[in-house]
This record gives sequence, structure tokens and C-alpha cells, in this order.
Amino acid sequence: MNVFALFFSLNLLFLCPFLSQADVPELSREPPRPIVFVPHDRSKSDPQQVHVSLAGMDHMRVTYITEDKKVESVVEYGTQPGKYDRKNTGESTSYKYFFYSSGKIHHVKIGPLEPNTTYYYKCGCNGPEFSFKTPPSSFPVEFAIVGDLGQTEWTAATLAQIKSQDYDVFLLPGDLSYADTNQPLWDSFGRLVEPLASKRPWMVTQGNHEIEFFPIIEHTTFKSYNSRWLMPYTESLSESNLYYSFDVAGIHTIMLGSYTDFDSESDQYQWLQADLAKVDRKMTPWVIVLLHAPWYNTNEAHEGEGESMREAMESLLFNARVDVVFAGHVHAYERFKRVYNNKVDQCGPIYITIGDGGNREGLATSFKKPPSPLSVFREPSFGHGRLKVIDEKRAHWSWHRNNDSNTVLADEVWLESLSALSSCWPSSQSHDEL
Ligand SMILES: [Fe+2]
Repeated sequence: MNVFALFFSLNLLFLCPFLSQADVPELSREPPRPIVFVPHDRSKSDPQQVHVSLAGMDHMRVTYITEDKKVESVVEYGTQPGKYDRKNTGESTSYKYFFYSSGKIHHVKIGPLEPNTTYYYKCGCNGPEFSFKTPPSSFPVEFAIVGDLGQTEWTAATLAQIKSQDYDVFLLPGDLSYADTNQPLWDSFGRLVEPLASKRPWMVTQGNHEIEFFPIIEHTTFKSYNSRWLMPYTESLSESNLYYSFDVAGIHTIMLGSYTDFDSESDQYQWLQADLAKVDRKMTPWVIVLLHAPWYNTNEAHEGEGESMREAMESLLFNARVDVVFAGHVHAYERFKRVYNNKVDQCGPIYITIGDGGNREGLATSFKKPPSPLSVFREPSFGHGRLKVIDEKRAHWSWHRNNDSNTVLADEVWLESLSALSSCWPSSQSHDEL
């Protein structure tokens, strides 16, 4: 038995009971489709698993992995194919997990960059040329949003449908690879998403499948996730890669961590409070939040799992007049009305669960009956969402269900930014003072 076979067997023996504690016991779910394992077909010195992310004002971070540890952390880039007039060096890391040793994980921050511009780039002076487009500096801006992505044939269908229509930034509210300690699946996931993630910034937050705690053997949580998916937390004055924020044009986006401390004494709470206090709705009329375990959910799967975080943090988001909160975790789609403290409130956020990327666990098909008056639309199908922010007041949200070979617009709604609703702002206080 080779080391990987031994590793997989140990996973099955010891880990599955543990993982089943992280997820609710099996509900009636449609059968998932097989995993798509994407092999490595480049040389050891070529970059693989290339993805880009926003890294502070006018900057992007290019992440790539090489098996050859001698390859440098350097990105050459320019606005014409094959002509790289600029070059930045970065940092690298690697990690061990049980018998697994990662490749050299390179993170190179580049910029300043022009908005809405295509850049061509090469990683480590080896391999193919890639290109990405920076987001625009003004409206309209379009986000593609989906959580619980995984790497099955359903995932491939979701990615193909996202790719078929342009967008500016990809947002993922947790549960990426479903490697679940089987580390080569992190590499396969990186290769599966590369055709999209090397072209547009991918901004992610963590889910329970990123924890990868392994009793006795591995106690460092989020080891793979933090090594591979470095997000702009230092740029947003956060102490942790598990929560951070960034601006795209007039939208302030906050990524929260459902699986790190969130009580009022916690670093995350203090950071969120300070981050929200800095928001200027004249500069960023829209504020959206992403997290993994939903605060509002009428599916029987994961019922109540986001409740303690909701109790701790909901008033912060409400008082800041956050426009929309996206969550994953529940493998279905659900859209709520504007809500605060379990009641309809026109000054509360709209809550949307979009955990329907296509992971190996299948769908969460059982919704509670009778339906909650807070819930507007709910359906257990794979798909993805799009938030197109038209201007400082209007945005269009749409949910696109996967069909076998095409995508179907199944739910849509026009949103108005709370920054434009004077009734939600006490007359004695301006937006800036709240
Ligand atoms: Fe999850």
C-alpha cells in the first residue's frame, strides 16, 4: 500500500465520523455526481493552480504553485500579449499535512494597475501566458456568486455556466475544494478553477470544509486554505485571513468567518465594528457581507448552525444598513425579505443562501413546512447567482439554475441600496455618523 492509499484509508477510518459531526446527518439528497480530478499536465517548473485576487487599492495578488522549489516568486506583466514591461517579486510558502507535502505556493502582489484593463502575465518566468481583467472603478459592476463549490461534474457545469457570461469579480462564501484532509484534492481543485480564477479576481471566505482538523495528527486548522487562498486581510487591517474586506468601485464587501471567534470580545467582532465605522456610503453606497453558515435558513439542513453568530453580530450589520448578506453551507438556494431579528424590517439586509455550487454531498432537498413568511424563494437545485450593481441606488440580483447543458434564470429581483432610503437613517444623523 503506498502512502496515499494508506492516507485515504485512515481518512475513511477516522475522519468520516468526525466530518459527519460538521454536517447535519444525511437528509434526503439527490445523488451527487462523480468527482472531477484534474491531473497536473505541465512540467514541474511550470506554474499551476493560478488564481488572482484583489489586494488593496489598485493591486492584485497572483498565486501559483510549482512542484520545483527552485522557481522564484516573480510575476512579469504588461498590457500587451508577450510584452512584459513590469515585474514584481513576492513571497512563497509550503506546508506539510500528514504524509503530504505541498508544492511551493507563490503569492506575488502586483500594481498599481489601471481599472477595467486586461493584463497579460507570466508566473515564475515559466510556462504559459495568462491574462486577467481588473474590475472597473465605477458602476456597473457584476459579481458572480456561489458557495460550496466542490469539484464534481456538477461543479464543472456551474463553472462552465459562469464562464459563459462575463463578470468582474467572483465571490465564494465558503467550502471550496471539499478536499477534507485529502490534500491532493486541493491541487486538483486549483487546477479545475484555474481557467476562471486566473482571469478574474476570486475572493473567498472559509467554510467548515476548510477547517481540516484531524484528531491527534493535525491540530492546525485552516492550514491548506490559509496557505493557498491568501486574501487581502492585512490590506483591510484584519489580523486574520479568515475575515477581511475590500472595495470594488462603489461596493464595500466584507468577508466574515463562521468558524473563528465572533463574540463581542473577539478580534473578529472588534475588527468588524471598526471596519463598518470606516464605511463612507458616499464613496461606497453598497455594503454586502459574505459568510458561510446562514443566519436565516428554512432548510432542515444545518438548521440553527448560524444562530449564535447571528445573535452576536446581527445588530452590527443592521445598524450599518448592510444591503445584502450572502451565505453558503446549505446546498440549495433561498432568498429572504429584508429582515432584522427574525422580523421583516425594511432597513435590514436581504439574506440569500447560495450554497449550490455542485459539491460531492448533493443537495439539501428538505425545506421546512409551512414556509416562513420571511422566505421569498427557495429551491434545492445547483446553480449560481449574479449581483449586477447598476449604480449607487439600483442592483439586479439573479439566480441561475443549472440544467444539463444550459442555465436557466429562475429567480430575480431589483434591489435598492439602503444608502438611498432616507427613512432608514435617523434624521439627526447623516450616513457618515452612523
Ligand atoms: Fe459547509
